[in-house]
Amino acid sequence: MDLVVVSNRVARAKANEPMTGGLAAALLPVVEKSGAIWVGSSGRVRDNATKDSFAEIESLGAGALALLDLPAAHYGGYYEGFANSALWPALHSRTDLIRVSQDDYQSYREVNAFMARALMRFRKPGTMFWIQDYHFLALGAEMRDLGVRNPLGFFLHTPWPARRVIAGVPHHRELIEAMLAYDLIGFQTDDDCENFATYLRTDLGLEVDAGIVTSRFGTSRIATFPIGIDVDGFSAQAQRAASHPDVSRLRKSLHGERLAIGVDRVDYSKGLVNRISAFDRLFEMQPSLKRSVSLLQIATPSRGGIEAYSNLQDELSKQVTEVNGRHGEVDWTPIRYLSKGFSQTVLAGFYRAAQVGVVTPLHDGMNLVAKEYVAAQNPIDPGVLVLSKFAGAANELDTALLVNPHDIDGMARTIATALSMPAPERRMRWEAMMAKLRAGTIHSWFADFIDALENARSTAGPVLPSATVRPLRAVGARLYN
Ligand code: G6P
Repeated sequence: MDLVVVSNRVARAKANEPMTGGLAAALLPVVEKSGAIWVGSSGRVRDNATKDSFAEIESLGAGALALLDLPAAHYGGYYEGFANSALWPALHSRTDLIRVSQDDYQSYREVNAFMARALMRFRKPGTMFWIQDYHFLALGAEMRDLGVRNPLGFFLHTPWPARRVIAGVPHHRELIEAMLAYDLIGFQTDDDCENFATYLRTDLGLEVDAGIVTSRFGTSRIATFPIGIDVDGFSAQAQRAASHPDVSRLRKSLHGERLAIGVDRVDYSKGLVNRISAFDRLFEMQPSLKRSVSLLQIATPSRGGIEAYSNLQDELSKQVTEVNGRHGEVDWTPIRYLSKGFSQTVLAGFYRAAQVGVVTPLHDGMNLVAKEYVAAQNPIDPGVLVLSKFAGAANELDTALLVNPHDIDGMARTIATALSMPAPERRMRWEAMMAKLRAGTIHSWFADFIDALENARSTAGPVLPSATVRPLRAVGARLYN
Protein backbone atom coordinates (compact mmCIF):
# COMPACT_ATOMS: atom_id res chain seq x y z
CA MET A 1 0.00 0.00 0.00
CA ASP A 2 1.30 3.44 -0.91
CA LEU A 3 0.07 5.98 1.56
CA VAL A 4 0.69 9.69 1.83
CA VAL A 5 -0.42 11.35 5.07
CA VAL A 6 -0.73 15.13 5.03
CA SER A 7 -0.99 17.52 7.98
CA ASN A 8 0.05 21.06 8.64
CA ARG A 9 2.13 20.18 11.67
CA VAL A 10 4.30 17.09 11.73
CA ALA A 11 6.36 15.48 14.49
CA ARG A 12 10.02 14.65 14.36
CA ALA A 13 10.97 11.19 15.59
CA LYS A 14 12.68 12.31 18.76
CA ALA A 15 11.10 11.13 22.00
CA ASN A 16 13.20 13.64 23.95
CA GLU A 17 11.93 16.74 22.11
CA PRO A 18 8.71 18.58 22.98
CA MET A 19 5.82 18.03 20.60
CA THR A 20 3.02 20.44 19.90
CA GLY A 21 -0.51 19.13 19.93
CA GLY A 22 -2.16 15.76 19.92
CA LEU A 23 -2.23 15.27 16.16
CA ALA A 24 1.53 15.18 15.64
CA ALA A 25 2.16 12.96 18.66
CA ALA A 26 -0.60 10.54 17.64
CA LEU A 27 0.50 10.13 14.05
CA LEU A 28 4.19 9.62 14.73
CA PRO A 29 4.09 5.93 15.78
CA VAL A 30 1.74 4.92 12.97
CA VAL A 31 3.68 6.69 10.26
CA GLU A 32 6.89 5.15 11.59
CA LYS A 33 5.37 1.69 11.47
CA SER A 34 3.30 1.88 8.31
CA GLY A 35 5.93 3.13 5.92
CA ALA A 36 3.78 6.07 4.84
CA ILE A 37 5.16 9.35 3.56
CA TRP A 38 4.13 12.16 5.91
CA VAL A 39 3.96 15.53 4.21
CA GLY A 40 3.59 18.74 6.19
CA SER A 41 4.77 22.27 6.70
CA SER A 42 8.44 22.80 7.50
CA GLY A 43 7.39 25.77 9.63
CA ARG A 44 9.44 27.98 7.30
CA VAL A 45 8.16 30.22 4.57
CA ARG A 46 9.74 31.37 1.32
CA ASP A 47 9.03 34.33 -0.93
CA ASN A 48 9.58 32.17 -3.96
CA ALA A 49 8.11 28.90 -2.66
CA THR A 50 7.26 26.45 -5.42
CA LYS A 51 5.60 23.05 -5.32
CA ASP A 52 9.11 21.61 -5.18
CA SER A 53 10.15 23.64 -2.14
CA PHE A 54 10.64 20.61 0.04
CA ALA A 55 13.06 21.72 2.74
CA GLU A 56 13.82 18.16 3.73
CA ILE A 57 12.83 14.62 2.95
CA GLU A 58 14.12 12.31 5.64
CA SER A 59 13.39 8.80 6.75
CA LEU A 60 11.01 8.20 9.64
CA GLY A 61 10.98 4.58 10.80
CA ALA A 62 9.73 2.54 7.87
CA GLY A 63 8.32 5.73 6.34
CA ALA A 64 9.49 9.21 5.42
CA LEU A 65 8.89 12.79 6.39
CA ALA A 66 8.67 15.44 3.66
CA LEU A 67 8.64 19.02 4.87
CA LEU A 68 7.46 21.77 2.58
CA ASP A 69 8.26 25.48 2.79
CA LEU A 70 5.04 27.40 2.30
CA PRO A 71 4.57 30.66 0.37
CA ALA A 72 5.43 33.63 2.57
CA ALA A 73 2.74 35.85 1.07
CA HIS A 74 -0.04 33.50 2.14
CA TYR A 75 1.20 31.78 5.28
CA GLY A 76 -0.11 34.32 7.81
CA GLY A 77 -3.54 34.54 6.21
CA TYR A 78 -3.72 30.75 6.03
CA TYR A 79 -2.40 29.72 9.46
CA GLU A 80 -3.04 32.57 11.88
CA GLY A 81 -5.85 33.90 9.74
CA PHE A 82 -8.43 31.59 8.27
CA ALA A 83 -7.36 28.29 9.90
CA ASN A 84 -6.87 29.52 13.45
CA SER A 85 -8.96 32.70 13.64
CA ALA A 86 -12.02 31.50 11.73
CA LEU A 87 -12.15 27.71 11.55
CA TRP A 88 -10.64 26.84 14.95
CA PRO A 89 -12.93 29.14 16.99
CA ALA A 90 -16.00 28.02 15.03
CA LEU A 91 -15.13 24.33 15.32
CA HIS A 92 -14.90 24.86 19.09
CA SER A 93 -18.17 26.81 19.13
CA ARG A 94 -16.50 30.18 19.87
CA THR A 95 -17.91 32.22 17.02
CA ASP A 96 -17.38 35.33 19.20
CA LEU A 97 -13.64 34.91 18.56
CA ILE A 98 -13.84 34.75 14.77
CA ARG A 99 -11.62 37.45 13.20
CA VAL A 100 -11.11 37.02 9.50
CA SER A 101 -10.71 38.93 6.28
CA GLN A 102 -11.42 38.11 2.67
CA ASP A 103 -7.64 38.00 2.10
CA ASP A 104 -7.27 35.34 4.78
CA TYR A 105 -9.73 33.10 2.97
CA GLN A 106 -7.91 33.68 -0.30
CA SER A 107 -4.61 32.75 1.36
CA TYR A 108 -6.15 29.62 2.87
CA ARG A 109 -7.32 28.52 -0.56
CA GLU A 110 -3.93 29.41 -2.09
CA VAL A 111 -2.06 27.28 0.46
CA ASN A 112 -4.49 24.37 -0.08
CA ALA A 113 -3.92 24.65 -3.83
CA PHE A 114 -0.16 24.94 -3.31
CA MET A 115 -0.11 21.79 -1.17
CA ALA A 116 -2.18 19.97 -3.80
CA ARG A 117 0.42 20.78 -6.47
CA ALA A 118 3.26 19.71 -4.17
CA LEU A 119 1.57 16.37 -3.48
CA MET A 120 1.66 15.47 -7.17
CA ARG A 121 5.28 14.51 -6.62
CA PHE A 122 4.15 11.55 -4.51
CA ARG A 123 1.28 10.37 -6.69
CA LYS A 124 1.46 6.92 -8.22
CA PRO A 125 -1.53 5.00 -9.61
CA GLY A 126 -2.37 3.17 -6.35
CA THR A 127 -1.39 5.90 -3.87
CA MET A 128 -3.94 6.76 -1.19
CA PHE A 129 -3.86 10.23 0.30
CA TRP A 130 -5.01 10.83 3.84
CA ILE A 131 -5.41 14.48 4.73
CA GLN A 132 -5.56 15.60 8.36
CA ASP A 133 -7.45 18.40 10.01
CA TYR A 134 -9.06 21.75 9.41
CA HIS A 135 -6.06 23.36 7.74
CA PHE A 136 -6.84 21.44 4.57
CA LEU A 137 -10.61 21.25 4.15
CA ALA A 138 -10.30 22.18 0.45
CA LEU A 139 -7.16 20.23 -0.39
CA GLY A 140 -9.05 17.23 -1.77
CA ALA A 141 -11.07 19.43 -4.11
CA GLU A 142 -7.88 21.11 -5.32
CA MET A 143 -6.40 17.67 -6.03
CA ARG A 144 -9.48 16.61 -7.96
CA ASP A 145 -9.12 19.81 -10.01
CA LEU A 146 -5.62 18.64 -10.89
CA GLY A 147 -7.12 15.40 -12.20
CA VAL A 148 -6.31 13.19 -9.21
CA ARG A 149 -8.58 10.15 -9.06
CA ASN A 150 -6.74 8.31 -6.30
CA PRO A 151 -8.54 7.55 -3.02
CA LEU A 152 -8.66 10.64 -0.82
CA GLY A 153 -9.45 10.42 2.87
CA PHE A 154 -9.89 13.20 5.41
CA PHE A 155 -9.93 13.12 9.20
CA LEU A 156 -10.95 16.00 11.44
CA HIS A 157 -9.17 16.05 14.81
CA THR A 158 -11.40 18.78 16.27
CA PRO A 159 -15.12 18.75 17.02
CA TRP A 160 -17.62 19.58 14.27
CA PRO A 161 -20.21 22.00 15.67
CA ALA A 162 -23.93 22.56 15.11
CA ARG A 163 -24.89 23.93 11.69
CA ARG A 164 -25.68 27.42 12.94
CA VAL A 165 -22.24 27.63 14.49
CA ILE A 166 -20.25 26.55 11.43
CA ALA A 167 -22.35 29.05 9.48
CA GLY A 168 -20.34 31.72 11.34
CA VAL A 169 -17.37 30.88 9.10
CA PRO A 170 -17.30 32.98 5.94
CA HIS A 171 -17.51 30.76 2.82
CA HIS A 172 -18.76 27.79 4.85
CA ARG A 173 -20.93 26.49 2.03
CA GLU A 174 -18.15 26.52 -0.51
CA LEU A 175 -15.72 24.85 1.88
CA ILE A 176 -18.09 22.11 2.95
CA GLU A 177 -19.01 21.43 -0.66
CA ALA A 178 -15.28 21.15 -1.34
CA MET A 179 -14.91 18.59 1.46
CA LEU A 180 -17.10 16.23 -0.52
CA ALA A 181 -14.20 15.68 -2.88
CA TYR A 182 -12.91 13.30 -0.20
CA ASP A 183 -14.03 9.69 -0.54
CA LEU A 184 -14.07 9.25 3.22
CA ILE A 185 -14.55 11.93 5.87
CA GLY A 186 -13.80 10.83 9.43
CA PHE A 187 -14.83 12.44 12.73
CA GLN A 188 -13.89 11.84 16.36
CA THR A 189 -17.40 11.27 17.72
CA ASP A 190 -20.88 10.37 16.55
CA ASP A 191 -22.10 13.83 17.58
CA ASP A 192 -19.57 15.48 15.25
CA CYS A 193 -20.52 13.17 12.42
CA GLU A 194 -24.22 13.80 12.98
CA ASN A 195 -23.71 17.59 13.05
CA PHE A 196 -21.93 17.36 9.71
CA ALA A 197 -24.67 15.18 8.22
CA THR A 198 -27.30 17.64 9.43
CA TYR A 199 -25.48 20.48 7.67
CA LEU A 200 -25.30 18.47 4.44
CA ARG A 201 -29.01 17.72 4.59
CA THR A 202 -30.26 21.09 5.75
CA ASP A 203 -27.89 23.58 4.14
CA LEU A 204 -26.75 21.74 1.04
CA GLY A 205 -29.98 19.83 0.45
CA LEU A 206 -28.11 16.53 0.08
CA GLU A 207 -29.33 13.11 1.08
CA VAL A 208 -27.18 11.29 3.61
CA ASP A 209 -28.11 7.65 3.88
CA ALA A 210 -26.21 5.32 6.21
CA GLY A 211 -23.27 7.70 6.04
CA ILE A 212 -23.20 7.82 2.24
CA VAL A 213 -23.66 11.14 0.45
CA THR A 214 -23.60 11.86 -3.27
CA SER A 215 -22.42 15.19 -4.56
CA ARG A 216 -21.02 16.58 -7.79
CA PHE A 217 -17.73 14.85 -6.94
CA GLY A 218 -19.31 11.40 -6.72
CA THR A 219 -19.97 9.45 -3.54
CA SER A 220 -18.43 10.10 -0.14
CA ARG A 221 -18.77 8.24 3.11
CA ILE A 222 -18.86 9.98 6.48
CA ALA A 223 -18.11 7.99 9.62
CA THR A 224 -16.73 8.10 13.15
CA PHE A 225 -13.18 6.96 13.98
CA PRO A 226 -12.31 7.86 17.61
CA ILE A 227 -8.55 8.33 17.74
CA GLY A 228 -6.53 6.34 20.29
CA ILE A 229 -2.98 6.13 21.56
CA ASP A 230 -0.17 3.59 21.52
CA VAL A 231 -1.31 2.23 24.90
CA ASP A 232 1.43 -0.31 25.57
CA GLY A 233 4.16 1.92 24.14
CA PHE A 234 3.10 4.86 26.31
CA SER A 235 2.73 2.72 29.39
CA ALA A 236 6.24 1.31 28.96
CA GLN A 237 7.57 4.82 28.34
CA ALA A 238 6.01 5.97 31.64
CA GLN A 239 7.66 3.14 33.57
CA ARG A 240 11.04 3.83 32.03
CA ALA A 241 10.69 7.56 32.61
CA ALA A 242 10.74 7.07 36.39
CA SER A 243 14.52 7.32 36.24
CA HIS A 244 14.56 10.44 34.04
CA PRO A 245 16.27 13.31 35.92
CA ASP A 246 13.30 15.70 35.46
CA VAL A 247 10.89 13.11 36.83
CA SER A 248 13.16 12.33 39.81
CA ARG A 249 13.43 16.06 40.53
CA LEU A 250 9.66 16.39 40.46
CA ARG A 251 9.16 13.48 42.85
CA LYS A 252 11.83 14.78 45.22
CA SER A 253 10.24 18.21 45.30
CA LEU A 254 6.94 16.84 46.58
CA HIS A 255 7.94 15.96 50.19
CA GLY A 256 4.88 13.71 50.58
CA GLU A 257 2.58 16.24 48.96
CA ARG A 258 0.13 14.89 46.38
CA LEU A 259 0.16 16.13 42.83
CA ALA A 260 -2.53 16.95 40.31
CA ILE A 261 -1.38 17.48 36.73
CA GLY A 262 -2.72 19.37 33.72
CA VAL A 263 -0.93 19.46 30.36
CA ASP A 264 -2.32 21.68 27.63
CA ARG A 265 -1.50 24.09 24.88
CA VAL A 266 -2.57 27.56 26.00
CA ASP A 267 -5.84 27.59 24.11
CA TYR A 268 -9.24 28.99 25.07
CA SER A 269 -10.84 25.63 24.29
CA LYS A 270 -8.86 23.95 27.09
CA GLY A 271 -10.72 25.54 30.01
CA LEU A 272 -7.53 26.60 31.81
CA VAL A 273 -8.97 29.65 33.54
CA ASN A 274 -11.84 27.59 34.96
CA ARG A 275 -9.43 24.88 36.07
CA ILE A 276 -7.22 27.31 38.02
CA SER A 277 -10.41 28.81 39.51
CA ALA A 278 -11.47 25.33 40.60
CA PHE A 279 -8.19 24.90 42.51
CA ASP A 280 -8.63 28.35 44.02
CA ARG A 281 -12.09 27.26 45.17
CA LEU A 282 -10.77 23.91 46.43
CA PHE A 283 -8.29 25.61 48.77
CA GLU A 284 -11.02 27.99 49.93
CA MET A 285 -13.51 25.19 50.58
CA GLN A 286 -11.01 22.81 52.17
CA PRO A 287 -8.11 24.75 53.69
CA SER A 288 -6.87 21.47 55.16
CA LEU A 289 -5.77 20.50 51.65
CA LYS A 290 -3.29 23.36 51.55
CA ARG A 291 0.28 22.01 51.54
CA SER A 292 -1.05 18.51 50.93
CA VAL A 293 -1.75 18.89 47.20
CA SER A 294 -0.65 21.17 44.37
CA LEU A 295 -1.41 21.47 40.68
CA LEU A 296 1.41 21.13 38.18
CA GLN A 297 0.05 22.92 35.12
CA ILE A 298 2.17 22.64 32.00
CA ALA A 299 0.84 25.32 29.69
CA THR A 300 2.67 25.25 26.39
CA PRO A 301 2.47 28.59 24.59
CA SER A 302 0.58 28.26 21.33
CA ARG A 303 -0.34 30.46 18.35
CA GLY A 304 1.04 33.48 20.18
CA GLY A 305 0.66 35.75 17.14
CA ILE A 306 -3.13 35.63 17.52
CA GLU A 307 -4.64 38.14 19.95
CA ALA A 308 -7.06 35.72 21.59
CA TYR A 309 -4.08 33.49 22.48
CA SER A 310 -1.72 36.22 23.71
CA ASN A 311 -4.56 37.67 25.81
CA LEU A 312 -5.17 34.26 27.35
CA GLN A 313 -1.47 33.85 28.18
CA ASP A 314 -1.56 37.18 30.01
CA GLU A 315 -4.79 36.35 31.80
CA LEU A 316 -3.46 33.00 33.00
CA SER A 317 -0.18 34.44 34.29
CA LYS A 318 -2.15 37.03 36.25
CA GLN A 319 -4.59 34.49 37.59
CA VAL A 320 -1.88 32.05 38.71
CA THR A 321 -0.02 34.87 40.47
CA GLU A 322 -3.21 35.86 42.31
CA VAL A 323 -4.11 32.31 43.38
CA ASN A 324 -0.56 31.57 44.50
CA GLY A 325 -0.44 34.89 46.32
CA ARG A 326 -3.69 34.13 48.11
CA HIS A 327 -3.07 30.54 49.20
CA GLY A 328 0.70 30.03 48.95
CA GLU A 329 3.13 29.81 51.84
CA VAL A 330 6.85 30.55 51.99
CA ASP A 331 7.58 26.90 51.34
CA TRP A 332 4.52 25.84 49.32
CA THR A 333 3.24 26.88 45.90
CA PRO A 334 -0.34 25.78 45.13
CA ILE A 335 -0.07 26.10 41.32
CA ARG A 336 3.23 25.21 39.68
CA TYR A 337 2.75 26.83 36.34
CA LEU A 338 5.26 26.15 33.55
CA SER A 339 4.92 27.92 30.21
CA LYS A 340 6.91 25.51 28.12
CA GLY A 341 6.71 22.13 26.43
CA PHE A 342 8.19 18.82 27.59
CA SER A 343 9.08 15.67 25.68
CA GLN A 344 6.63 12.76 25.58
CA THR A 345 9.03 10.75 27.76
CA VAL A 346 9.14 13.33 30.51
CA LEU A 347 5.38 13.88 30.33
CA ALA A 348 4.78 10.15 30.64
CA GLY A 349 6.87 10.16 33.84
CA PHE A 350 5.07 13.24 35.19
CA TYR A 351 1.67 11.63 34.59
CA ARG A 352 2.71 8.56 36.54
CA ALA A 353 3.92 10.70 39.41
CA ALA A 354 0.56 12.52 39.69
CA GLN A 355 -2.35 11.19 41.78
CA VAL A 356 -4.89 13.19 39.78
CA GLY A 357 -5.02 14.06 36.06
CA VAL A 358 -7.17 17.12 35.36
CA VAL A 359 -8.33 17.32 31.76
CA THR A 360 -11.14 19.83 31.71
CA PRO A 361 -11.54 21.40 28.25
CA LEU A 362 -14.65 23.42 27.42
CA HIS A 363 -14.76 21.57 24.11
CA ASP A 364 -12.26 19.15 22.62
CA GLY A 365 -12.25 16.78 19.65
CA MET A 366 -10.77 13.88 21.64
CA ASN A 367 -8.01 15.01 24.03
CA LEU A 368 -5.22 12.49 24.04
CA VAL A 369 -3.72 13.81 27.29
CA ALA A 370 -6.65 12.11 29.03
CA LYS A 371 -5.78 8.79 27.39
CA GLU A 372 -2.05 9.20 28.02
CA TYR A 373 -2.62 9.99 31.70
CA VAL A 374 -4.55 6.73 32.10
CA ALA A 375 -2.01 4.63 30.18
CA ALA A 376 0.86 6.03 32.27
CA GLN A 377 -0.53 4.91 35.65
CA ASN A 378 0.90 2.28 37.93
CA PRO A 379 -1.67 -0.59 37.86
CA ILE A 380 -1.28 -1.22 41.59
CA ASP A 381 -1.75 2.37 42.65
CA PRO A 382 -3.36 4.26 39.76
CA GLY A 383 -4.25 7.93 39.85
CA VAL A 384 -7.72 9.34 39.15
CA LEU A 385 -8.71 11.10 35.95
CA VAL A 386 -10.97 14.15 36.28
CA LEU A 387 -12.33 14.62 32.79
CA SER A 388 -14.59 17.17 31.12
CA LYS A 389 -17.73 15.65 29.68
CA PHE A 390 -17.15 17.93 26.67
CA ALA A 391 -13.96 16.14 25.59
CA GLY A 392 -14.46 13.45 22.94
CA ALA A 393 -12.52 11.10 25.24
CA ALA A 394 -15.42 11.15 27.74
CA ASN A 395 -17.41 8.87 25.42
CA GLU A 396 -14.94 6.09 26.04
CA LEU A 397 -13.47 7.01 29.43
CA ASP A 398 -16.79 7.03 31.21
CA THR A 399 -15.37 5.66 34.45
CA ALA A 400 -13.27 8.78 34.89
CA LEU A 401 -14.77 11.38 37.23
CA LEU A 402 -16.69 13.39 34.64
CA VAL A 403 -17.14 17.12 35.27
CA ASN A 404 -18.83 20.12 33.75
CA PRO A 405 -15.92 22.56 33.22
CA HIS A 406 -18.27 25.54 33.60
CA ASP A 407 -19.20 24.48 37.13
CA ILE A 408 -16.23 25.66 39.22
CA ASP A 409 -17.62 24.48 42.58
CA GLY A 410 -18.51 21.11 41.07
CA MET A 411 -14.97 20.71 39.72
CA ALA A 412 -13.47 21.65 43.09
CA ARG A 413 -15.64 19.06 44.83
CA THR A 414 -14.72 16.41 42.24
CA ILE A 415 -11.00 17.07 42.65
CA ALA A 416 -11.45 16.61 46.41
CA THR A 417 -13.27 13.32 45.74
CA ALA A 418 -10.42 12.19 43.49
CA LEU A 419 -7.89 12.95 46.21
CA SER A 420 -9.71 10.85 48.78
CA MET A 421 -10.68 7.92 46.56
CA PRO A 422 -9.71 4.54 48.05
CA ALA A 423 -7.33 2.31 46.10
CA PRO A 424 -9.85 -0.44 45.20
CA GLU A 425 -12.17 2.10 43.52
CA ARG A 426 -9.24 3.74 41.73
CA ARG A 427 -8.16 0.38 40.39
CA MET A 428 -11.65 -0.56 39.27
CA ARG A 429 -12.12 2.69 37.36
CA TRP A 430 -8.63 2.52 35.89
CA GLU A 431 -9.01 -1.08 34.68
CA ALA A 432 -12.26 -0.22 32.94
CA MET A 433 -10.58 2.74 31.21
CA MET A 434 -7.58 0.65 30.18
CA ALA A 435 -9.91 -1.90 28.61
CA LYS A 436 -11.46 0.90 26.53
CA LEU A 437 -8.04 2.23 25.52
CA ARG A 438 -6.94 -1.23 24.44
CA ALA A 439 -10.12 -1.67 22.40
CA GLY A 440 -9.28 1.42 20.31
CA THR A 441 -5.58 2.16 19.95
CA ILE A 442 -3.86 4.45 17.49
CA HIS A 443 -2.97 1.34 15.50
CA SER A 444 -6.58 0.15 15.18
CA TRP A 445 -7.70 3.71 14.38
CA PHE A 446 -5.20 3.86 11.55
CA ALA A 447 -6.05 0.40 10.21
CA ASP A 448 -9.82 1.02 10.44
CA PHE A 449 -9.58 4.29 8.54
CA ILE A 450 -7.40 2.84 5.80
CA ASP A 451 -9.73 -0.17 5.43
CA ALA A 452 -12.72 2.13 5.21
CA LEU A 453 -10.94 4.29 2.64
CA GLU A 454 -10.19 1.27 0.49
CA ASN A 455 -13.82 0.17 0.80
CA ALA A 456 -15.22 3.63 0.22
CA ARG A 457 -13.48 3.57 -3.14
CA SER A 458 -14.57 0.10 -4.11
CA THR A 459 -18.22 0.76 -3.25
CA ALA A 460 -18.42 4.38 -4.32
CA GLY A 461 -17.86 3.98 -8.02
CA PRO A 462 -15.64 6.19 -10.11
CA VAL A 463 -14.96 9.79 -9.29
CA LEU A 464 -16.09 12.08 -12.07
CA PRO A 465 -13.32 12.87 -14.51
CA SER A 466 -11.79 16.20 -13.73
CA ALA A 467 -13.24 17.94 -16.75
CA THR A 468 -16.78 17.29 -15.57
CA VAL A 469 -16.11 18.70 -12.11
CA ARG A 470 -16.75 22.41 -11.98
CA PRO A 471 -13.58 24.12 -10.78
CA LEU A 472 -14.28 25.52 -7.33
CA ARG A 473 -13.28 29.04 -8.11
CA ALA A 474 -15.81 29.16 -10.92
CA VAL A 475 -18.65 28.43 -8.54
CA GLY A 476 -17.09 30.43 -5.73
CA ALA A 477 -18.64 33.77 -6.55
CA ARG A 478 -22.11 32.29 -6.39
CA LEU A 479 -21.57 30.36 -3.22
CA TYR A 480 -19.67 32.95 -1.18
CA ASN A 481 -21.69 33.76 1.89
C1 G6P B 1 -4.70 20.70 17.57
C2 G6P B 1 -4.98 20.57 16.10
C3 G6P B 1 -3.74 20.14 15.35
C4 G6P B 1 -2.59 21.06 15.68
C5 G6P B 1 -2.38 21.14 17.20
C6 G6P B 1 -1.29 22.13 17.59
O1 G6P B 1 -4.44 19.46 18.13
O2 G6P B 1 -6.04 19.67 15.87
O3 G6P B 1 -3.96 20.16 13.96
O4 G6P B 1 -1.40 20.65 15.07
O5 G6P B 1 -3.60 21.56 17.79
O6 G6P B 1 -1.57 23.39 17.07
P1 G6P B 1 -0.53 24.13 16.12
O7 G6P B 1 -1.29 25.31 15.60
O8 G6P B 1 0.60 24.49 17.03
O9 G6P B 1 -0.13 23.16 15.06
